[in-house]
Amino acid sequence: MTESEILKLVELAQKARLYSYSPYSGFAVGAALLAESGKIYTGANCENASFGATICAERAALASAISAGERCFTAIAVAAGDKPVTPCGICRQTLAEFGDMAVICATAEGNEYKLFFLSSLLPEAFTSYK
Ligand code: THU
Repeated sequence: MTESEILKLVELAQKARLYSYSPYSGFAVGAALLAESGKIYTGANCENASFGATICAERAALASAISAGERCFTAIAVAAGDKPVTPCGICRQTLAEFGDMAVICATAEGNEYKLFFLSSLLPEAFTSYK
């Protein structure tokens, strides 16, 4: 990916973050997922009074993409906080279902980011028992 493609995805994740529903943690997260089709799907974290029902931004974006028929992905950008945050374990596992992809971890504002591959964040992932 080029630097401008990465920053475009970061910008969309930062915009999606503004729709976060996070009254319990106060920690707003946005995500932007680039499909191989070229389309980008966004998501924000959606919290719940029953904390375990919370959906992270990455999984919200993934569910949107899957619901539109996408199955192959190039990259996901996540935007939150003052320092780049990496996806939680559940999100790593959920994304790994659909193969490897670039993971761009960005701050809530500005152009700071860290670039990883999902396979480095979740090595030896369990993907299928078949
Ligand atoms: N959160 C995400 O949306 N993505 C992550 O990868 C880490 C955590 C959300 C869940 C919860 O709403 C808030 O951040 C605090 O954990």
